[in-house]
Parts: sequence; C-alpha cells; structure tokens
Amino acid sequence: MVHKEEPVVFVNGDLVPESKAVVSVFDRGFRWGDGVYEMSRTFGGRVFKLKEHLERLRWSLNYTRIDPGLSMEELERTTLELVDRNLGTGGPEVEDVGVTHIISRGPMDPTRKATSKPTVVIYTETLAFGMYARWYAQGVKMITPATRRTPPQSLSPKAKISNKMNHFVAQFEAQAIDPEALPLMLDYDGNVAESSGANFFFLAQGCIHVPNRRHVLGGISMDTVLEVAREMGIETREGDYTPFDVYKAEEAFLTSTPWSMAPVVSLNGLKIGQGVPGPVFHQLIQAWSERVGIDIVDQAMAYLQPQERKELVASTSSTPSL
Ligand SMILES: Cc1ncc(COP(=O)(O)O)c(C=O)c1O
Repeated sequence: MVHKEEPVVFVNGDLVPESKAVVSVFDRGFRWGDGVYEMSRTFGGRVFKLKEHLERLRWSLNYTRIDPGLSMEELERTTLELVDRNLGTGGPEVEDVGVTHIISRGPMDPTRKATSKPTVVIYTETLAFGMYARWYAQGVKMITPATRRTPPQSLSPKAKISNKMNHFVAQFEAQAIDPEALPLMLDYDGNVAESSGANFFFLAQGCIHVPNRRHVLGGISMDTVLEVAREMGIETREGDYTPFDVYKAEEAFLTSTPWSMAPVVSLNGLKIGQGVPGPVFHQLIQAWSERVGIDIVDQAMAYLQPQERKELVASTSSTPSL
C-alpha cells in the first residue's frame, strides 16, 4: 500500500511535503546529536500509548534542558493531526505507520555559540513489516559486543537522546561477527542491559526476568509485555543477570515499538531453549494483538511476497501460530 499523496512532515510549526522538509545545517542536533527523539506507531490507524511516549519525551527534554516551545497538549494534537492526514481517511486500506518526534536545541546563531529556538520535527514513516515477519518466524540471534551501555553516571540511559553512537558501535561490532545479529549490550559491571534499539528479557523457570532498569531505556513496549504477562499470571522480576543466566533461559525476547516483540533464539552462538521461537513468545504477542485489535504477526506476514511467505512458513513449521 502506497500513499496516494506525498506524506507531510511537521517542521517548526508548518506542515510541509516530505520532499520539502529541511532543517538547518547549523542545527546542534545535526552537529552534536544535541537533541532528543521519540518513536511511536499506529495499530489500525490509532497511535498506541501516545500519552506515554509524549511523557517520556517530556522527561528526555527536561533532562537535556531543551524547551520545545510547545506544550505536551499541542504536541499531542499536532501528532494526531499529522497521523490523520498521512493515513488518509482510514478504512480497510489503512496502513500502519511509525511516528517519529525529533526535538533538537536548534540552529546555532552566526556567532556559533547561542541558539535562538529549538527545532521540532514530527514525521510518519513506513514500517519494515517484511523484516519483522522474518523475526517473528525465525527469531533473532544476539551477540554481546565489547562496547558497554553508557553508565547512568555518565548519561542517563532513560533519556531518549538523539546521539545513538553508543548503540551503533555495539551494533557494528555484533554485525561484524554475524551480519544478521543484534547486539546484547552489557552494563559496566557485565550484567545484561539492552539491545541497540530494544529492551531484552528472558523466561527462566516460568518467570520473566528484566534487567535492572537503571541501565536501560524505560521501554513502552517492555512495559506492555510486562502488563500482558502479569494479566496472564506470569511472574515478573527485575535484577542483575549475566549472559550465563541467559544461556540457561527457556526463552528470551526483545521489545521495541515498530515490531512490538521478537523472540531471541541464540546468544553468542548458543541456543536459547530449543533455539526457535517459544510458546510464551506466541502467547504474549497474541495477547498484545488482542489488546490492539490487530494480529501483529499476520499483519507483518501479509507484507511478504506469497512465495517468500510460503518458504518462511515451511522453514518454521514447528512454530505453532504460523
Ligand atoms: C536503547 C533502546 N532501548 C529500548 C527501546 C525500546 O523502547 P520502546 O519499547 O519504547 O520503543 C528503544 C527504542 O527505540 C531503544 O532505543
């Protein structure tokens, strides 16, 4: 499904066509990553947990001392207007989209010292459903890179800061070993923290274990899975865990807004559980799907070419929900 019209982007108060959306080369966000961002997405055309995303944005702005020049109510209203405009009138043709907010400290003035006003950008983007479908079916392999997650003593991992180089370096290291792998970053003490753009947790003896939140972004998808797990009567616990604990796990998962949740099937080449997406992954994503009224796995599978979908289903015939 392709937009009939070009999507619009909110840039500093104006809605402009995507191809005309520009910001200054002198922007501190461009030069130093001096900004914050947020990512949400729609399910069935409705932005999921927008208030929670905007609340996290508010705390990221507060921490970095950036004044967006807009109230949270204005940001919410503008976001909904933009999404509405870019999705069209809805109905069965509706295509779910990612929604990104970027707020930087703004362009430097000619003295290159001060900034006059922040840069505020909101846009929608297509989601990579084909890749998500492969992850749901086959799972994700993870590798622990040498680069550690920035410790909270240096920069709070709870703020969603534009500069992602800590995560990217970790990702490049993992992918130099296996181009398909995602990094499982450790904290400074060698405990499991998070991936480059996702939270991590694992199931052991029927209990879901979440790494210590001091060292990770407070993921809205992670909170959703924990809510769903508690409703299902699954015990959840937070603590310090090493890769060894993960090797012994029955299942492991990642959560992130664009694809909600993905099963992790190996760490550093060692299988987790049976080395295939496990039953609890399927139960959790099913429960999340019921919450939003969209079958998350089926929605992604529908984006594959029929032949690719057939091959994927055949190669994963042991995964119950496919
Ligand atoms: C470092 C990091 N951890 C976790 C997440 C997952 O957060 P959420 O579930 O709110 O998308 C992200 C998302 O971008 C992230 O960048």
